[in-house]
Amino acid sequence: MNWHVSNELPTVTEYCELRVAVGLSAMDTIAADEALPRSLHAVTVRDEGRLVAMGRVVGDGLHVQIVDIAVASEAQGQGLSRIVMEDIMSFVATLPTCTLVNLFADVDWLYGKFGFVVPDHAVGMTLERR
Ligand SMILES: CC(C)(COP(=O)(O)OP(=O)(O)OC[C@H]1O[C@@H](n2cnc3c(N)ncnc32)[C@H](O)[C@@H]1OP(=O)(O)O)[C@@H](O)C(=O)NCCC(=O)NCCS
Repeated sequence: MNWHVSNELPTVTEYCELRVAVGLSAMDTIAADEALPRSLHAVTVRDEGRLVAMGRVVGDGLHVQIVDIAVASEAQGQGLSRIVMEDIMSFVATLPTCTLVNLFADVDWLYGKFGFVVPDHAVGMTLERR
C-alpha cells in the first residue's frame, strides 16, 4: 500500500466522520474546529488523499493524553495503528521526562507494546455527561 503519513491535522469533516465510522463517539463540528488546532501533535495517514488513519496528542507538555487513535475499517489489520503510534511515540520522546503521558484504552492490546501499563496506584476515571 502507498500510505502517505504526515503530521498535518485532518479536516474537521474528516475527523468527525472517521471517529463515527470507527465507532468512537461523535464530536461537534464547531467544537472540533476550535479544538483540533490546539493539538500538541497529530499524525494522519492517507491513501490517495483519503484519510484512513489518525492519532493526536493533546495537553500542555506536562500532562499529555493520546487520543483519537482510529483506523478506517477498510484499512484495519494492515499495521496502520503501529505507524500512527510509532510517530506519536517519537513525539512523546521529545517531551520532558517528567511529563505524564496517559490514554484511555478501548483496546489494551494496542498500547502495551509501546510501554503503557495499567497503573497500580490510580484508576482512570471519566465524567458521565449524559
Ligand atoms: C484499534 C485500531 C486503531 C487498530 O488499528 P489497526 O491498524 O487495524 O491495527 P492492526 O490490526 O494493524 O493491529 C496492530 C497490532 O495489534 C495486533 N492485534 C490486532 N488485533 C489484536 C488482538 N485482538 N489482540 C492482540 N493483538 C492484536 C496486531 O497483530 C498488530 O501487532 P503488531 O503491530 O505488533 O504487528 C482500529 O481497529 C480502530 O480504529 N478501531 C476503532 C477505534 C478504536 O477502538 N480506537 C482505539 C481507541 S483507544
